[in-house]
Amino acid sequence: MTDETRPWYETLFERDWYDYFAKGGPGYPDTDGSYARQTDAEVAFLERALELREPCDLLDLCCGPGRHSVRLAKRGHRVTGVDISAYNLEKAAEGAEEFGVEVTWREADMRDTGLVDSSQDVVINMFTAFGYFEDAGNQRVLEEVARVLRPGGRFVIELTNRDSLMRRFEPRESGLRRDGREGIQEREFDSATGTIKTTWTVIEADGERIIQRFAIRMYTLQELEVRMAQAGLTVEEAWGGLDGSELTMDSHRLVVLARKA
Ligand SMILES: C[S@@+](CC[C@H](N)C(=O)[O-])C[C@H]1O[C@@H](n2cnc3c(N)ncnc32)[C@H](O)[C@@H]1O
Repeated sequence: MTDETRPWYETLFERDWYDYFAKGGPGYPDTDGSYARQTDAEVAFLERALELREPCDLLDLCCGPGRHSVRLAKRGHRVTGVDISAYNLEKAAEGAEEFGVEVTWREADMRDTGLVDSSQDVVINMFTAFGYFEDAGNQRVLEEVARVLRPGGRFVIELTNRDSLMRRFEPRESGLRRDGREGIQEREFDSATGTIKTTWTVIEADGERIIQRFAIRMYTLQELEVRMAQAGLTVEEAWGGLDGSELTMDSHRLVVLARKA
């Protein structure tokens, strides 16, 4: 059991959560290099969607192990990666060395990055790294994004598409993972708050149960538009994935591009 006296987002990412919770399960084929290739394609999409022709100042907010940061730095952008997890930032620094790039890594909370006002041309927030707080905290994240962006600067956020999640909601899934361990995922949706509460259990070979709970506030595109507008960000485009596909109620992902006035 993980330490539940601390917020889940501080404990989940202190370890390799792919290994313990996701790797081995379907959808995370990261052992054969396909995850790296997928990230290459995601970065190519970002460059196209943002029309990044000149090197720019770019913040990867909640950069995790820095997979987008290092690739964007390789393309010449001046990248800052912010994350709360020292574990992930260590992985990110190793990645930067592998890629032969300089990235500024910063251990900080997404609500208060400590970056200078209007210092960034672009902020990205990738792979469901939003909705970790109650509404007021999530709003502070959007305000922080707007604060660090220069006027005209752009923000791309990539999330689970709530509409499609509701259509295919599975309260419980279990089975043998690719790594041979048993995994159980239990989910509850709280309609009053729009929050999905998940409990992930992995049963180790010796029977030990590793349990991690987390809760994510799921926003629809319309809610995001209103909240971003309150923070001074105007939504310009939305897609159903990092392949640039059309957003429909079946799209698993929601990608939003917004601009600071
Ligand atoms: C789902 S991962 C996404 C990582 C990365 N963007 C990617 O695409 O691989 C979410 C990341 O958010 C970070 N995080 C969680 N809570 C945070 C907070 N309060 N402030 C900053 N980073 C946070 C985690 O440490 C983790 O690296």
